[in-house]
Amino acid sequence: MFEGLDFTGKSTQVDILAKHLAKTGLAVTTTREPGGTSLGETIRRVILAKEETKLVALSELSLFIICRAQLWAEVIEPALASGNVVLSSRYRLSSLAYQGYGRGLDLALIERMNEIATSGKQPDLTFLLDLPADKAFERRGEVSDRIEQEDLDFYQRVHTGYVELTRKDPSVHLIDGTQSIDKIAQNIRDILMV
Ligand code: TYD
Repeated sequence: MFEGLDFTGKSTQVDILAKHLAKTGLAVTTTREPGGTSLGETIRRVILAKEETKLVALSELSLFIICRAQLWAEVIEPALASGNVVLSSRYRLSSLAYQGYGRGLDLALIERMNEIATSGKQPDLTFLLDLPADKAFERRGEVSDRIEQEDLDFYQRVHTGYVELTRKDPSVHLIDGTQSIDKIAQNIRDILMV
C-alpha cells in the first residue's frame, strides 16, 4: 500500500510498480481510496466536495470506513484469493493519520473500525512517501477538494501521525519523498527485491 500526504506522488508510484510487477509475470490489481468501487466513488464525491460543510469528524471517518469495507469485499479480498498482488493508493493508515492525528479522533477506535472493515487483515507492506508538510503544501496548486483546503497546521499533524505510525509498525517503510520519481521507484523495488 502507498501512503503519504496529498501531492506526494502515490498514484504515480502505484502505476510504475504495477507495470514493473506485471512485466515480471505477476497478476496485479491496482486501486485507490477513497473510491475503487461504485459505492466508493459515489462516497468519494460526497467526502471531497468543497461545498460539503456539515461533515463532522466522525461522519468523515465513517464514510472512509464504508469505502474501505466495500473495497475490501468487492476488490481486494477476491483479488488476493485469485493470487493477485494488490497495490492501493491510500489504505488504513490514511484514516489513522488524517482522522486520528489530523481531526483528533481516538486512534484505538479507528484501528477497530479498520479491522472490522477488512476482516482483520493487514497489508503485507506499506510505503510511506514522506514529504514534510510545508513541501507538500508548496506542491498544492488550485485547491481541488475539501480536505486539501485544510491549513498547514492540519497537514503538520497528519505528517507527524504518519511518521509516528511508521515507527510503531515494521511493515511500513519510510521513503524520502523529496527524491525524483525514478529514485523513489528504485527505492521501492530495492525493498521488494524485484
Ligand atoms: P486522494 O485520493 O489521495 O486525493 P487526490 O486524488 O486528490 O490525490 O485522497 C483524497 C483525500 O482523502 C486526501 O486528502 C486524504 C483523504 N483521506 C482521509 O482523510 N482519510 C482516509 O481514510 C482516506 C483514504 C483519505
